[in-house]
Parts: sequence; C-alpha cells; structure tokens
Amino acid sequence: NEAAKKALPLLGKKVLVTAGPTYEAIDPVRFIGNHSSGKMGFAIADVFTSLGAEVTLITGPTAEKSNSTLNRIDVVSAADMLAACETAFPKTDIMVMSAAVADYTPVAAADQKIKKNSAEFSLELKKTTDILATLGQVKTNHQILVGFALETENEEAYAKAKLSKKNLDLIVLNSLNDKGAGFKLNTNKITIFNKAGEKTVFETKSKTEVARDICNEILKLVH
Ligand code: CTP
Ligand code: CA
Repeated sequence: NEAAKKALPLLGKKVLVTAGPTYEAIDPVRFIGNHSSGKMGFAIADVFTSLGAEVTLITGPTAEKSNSTLNRIDVVSAADMLAACETAFPKTDIMVMSAAVADYTPVAAADQKIKKNSAEFSLELKKTTDILATLGQVKTNHQILVGFALETENEEAYAKAKLSKKNLDLIVLNSLNDKGAGFKLNTNKITIFNKAGEKTVFETKSKTEVARDICNEILKLVH
C-alpha cells in the first residue's frame, strides 16, 4: 500500500554497496593499504536497509561491524573486490562504490617474506582494474551507478570527468581540503554532481547524516 511504499521506498530493490580499503599483498606479511575506515560505506548500507532495500555490502578489511540484516561479503584485494562486484552487479538495481580501491598492486607478491638484504629496494606495481568503470560499461538503463571522487585540487573538474568517463549517474565529491572531511573522521563534507551537470553542495555533517543525504539524492533517480 501507499503508506508502506512511503516508509520503505526501496522495498524489493537490490542495492550493492562497497566499503573500506583494499590490501594488496607484497609478501606473506606485508601489504599496500590506505586509511579508509569503511565508515561511509557501512553508513550508506545501513540507510538503504532502513529504506527497505535488500543490501549486499562488499567490504575490504575494516573494524566496522555490520548489522545482521544485510548480506556482507568480505574481500581483501582490489582483484577480489572486482570479482565480487562483477558477480553481484547484474542482479543489482542500485550500486554505490564507496570503497577506497588501490590504484596499483604489486606485479607479483613474493612467496616468502622479503629479507632486508639490500640497501635499496623497489617494488614494481601495475594498475588495478577500475571496478566502477568496468561496471559502467555493462550498466543497463535500469541500473543506477554511483561513485565517489576523492580530490585535492581541481575538484569539480576532476569529479565531473570521472562521472562521465565511468558512465555514472551520480558522483559524490569528497574533498580532503575541507576541514571536517576525511578518512578517520566521523564527519564528512560532500558535493554531489549528476549527469545533467547539476551540483548539490552539502554542509559538514556526521557520516550517518551524509549517508542519508546521498541516499536521498539516489532516491530521486528511482521511479
Ligand atoms: N575505483 C574503482 N576501482 C579502482 C579505483 C577506483 O572502482 N581500481 C572507484 C572508487 O571506488 C571511487 C571512484 O572509482 O568510487 C573514484 O576513485 P578515485 O580514487 O577518486 O579516482 P580514480 O578513478 O581512481 O582516479 P585517481 O585516483 O587518479 O584520481
Ligand atoms: Ca584512485
């Protein structure tokens, strides 16, 4: 009925959210990671759950706890996350890519712990597959694809370029220049751009409130 639809507008919708960092193995005891806490993605997953959606959360290594009503898939590397996303995406109505995926990964992980034998040591890295761009290429008109952009300069231009290049419906710009925004903090300051080039600026808020703002913008695209 209408009342239920209003309270749970995403009832029957399948939502896929990614969160956290990825860890790229260097050897059995070391990895390349980043400071993502996973808080933003977990908060978004919770909001979608509260809107009635069936949520799958694909997360890199994080200390965050998820509520038991969502389907949580734990992954480690960018390659693992790509595989999990490619499997889940075809059945997904709305996908929000909030994970901080490594851009580069070691060309090969050493089988044994690397010993400190030489004065200098360099690691050969190769680009990871861009998960969002990969999904953007197979996206249908019925699917909504949302990405993030983390920028420290030329923010608006870079964010808009990612929106179009990756075939996204929305991009959430997260700028590290803003006080109150960033990885370990509980607050965030975002700006959202849509395909029409419209820009919505939000105040600095708790990550829970930011998650609500993001989900509200996405809801506007769902009919
Ligand atoms: N992303 C992804 N797969 C990657 C790298 C990034 O899906 N291998 C996604 C991120 O989850 C984010 C979006 O792409 O939603 C933008 O990430 P960002 O790091 O801001 O941009 P990049 O495209 O990686 O470009 P750069 O780091 O050079 O700015
Ligand atoms: Ca990147």
